[in-house]
Amino acid sequence: MYVLGIETSCDETGVAIYHSKDGLLSHHLYSQIELHAPYGGIVPELASRDHIRKLLPLIRETLAAADLSLEQLDGIAYTAGPGLIGALLVGASVGHGLAWSLKIPVAAIHHMEGHLLAPLMETHQLNPPFLALLISGGHTLLIQVTRLGDYQVLGESVDDAIGEAFDKVAKMLGLGYPGGPALEKLAQQGACDRFRFPRPMTDRPGLDFSFSGLKTFTMNTLAATAGSQQDKADIACAFQHAVADTLAIKCRRAIQQTGIRQLVAAGGVCANQAIRNRLGKVADQENARLFLPRHEFCTDNGAMIAFTGCLRLLAGQREGPVIQARARWNLEDLPPIPLQSGLLPPAKGVECCFGDAKKGTPK
Ligand code: KG4
Ligand code: ZN
Repeated sequence: MYVLGIETSCDETGVAIYHSKDGLLSHHLYSQIELHAPYGGIVPELASRDHIRKLLPLIRETLAAADLSLEQLDGIAYTAGPGLIGALLVGASVGHGLAWSLKIPVAAIHHMEGHLLAPLMETHQLNPPFLALLISGGHTLLIQVTRLGDYQVLGESVDDAIGEAFDKVAKMLGLGYPGGPALEKLAQQGACDRFRFPRPMTDRPGLDFSFSGLKTFTMNTLAATAGSQQDKADIACAFQHAVADTLAIKCRRAIQQTGIRQLVAAGGVCANQAIRNRLGKVADQENARLFLPRHEFCTDNGAMIAFTGCLRLLAGQREGPVIQARARWNLEDLPPIPLQSGLLPPAKGVECCFGDAKKGTPK
């Protein structure tokens, strides 16, 4: 089964083709970073318009790279939410329109489920039950995965999402958009132990997160310095260290509470090497296995949507004619994926990836 995946939930147009037997055939990404950079953040209306401009050419390119024609597709998967509603509607309309004209099934995919299942593209060593830490620009979630599609939220941010905190702190430090990667780079020049940032909500039981206090703490710390480049690098490093530590403490707690010793960490913020390393340490200490997608599958991409769509279509799920687009969507509301064993598409690449993710585009 050839499945075309379409991702347009935010500021990245992603398209991929996943085959149920051969795995990922091609994936292309167009990032709108340059478009939004002058504004210091995403402008939703500009995002929608750019998806309209880029989506069809990107679909053509992705098909050509896989040496396929539209008529050879067996199904279409698109991100139906959560995300920017105008941006989502572009992928949803194109997805439904194509499926309608080609008379093939279409699946409406939850963006965060795409992130969550991304590591499965590369390993079959991971079987439910497992825990998943989903850290992105809009979400901070700690999930218990009982079966594929059966998700229970164990913890979430009570205020800012983690990526949002990275982006806002980066802005305070005078860094461009998107802030996460820029902050990580600056932190490499910093002394992490000069400032001690709090580890929010770790002094009480529970698995929820809070990041807005760290923003205020950063602002006050910066104001108390001369604001030199070294001051900023030291602050960036201390902030990153505090965030990584906080995530690690909550993940350890979740492993101990549930007794589940498999942990997936995914989403854009998981591209951060300090966080990857810190989670790796927790996995070692808790005798657990950590599964991390390679960098290109941490941040938004079409491959995770094509893959998740392939799983849901193989399990017989189909969308009706109504176009689905939801700005908000609870992962717990998803139906399970009743896959018979052996139906899981082949995994390519690393068995269990931790540390330096393999680079490059799988063929
Ligand atoms: O998953 P993603 O690409 O899009 C959403 O679904 O939100 O995540 C984007 C977020 C942004 O906030 C970005 O600053 C952050 O991930 N991010 C990072 C890094 N790379 C991306 N944060 C910290 N360190 C990074 N290396
Ligand atoms: Zn995302």
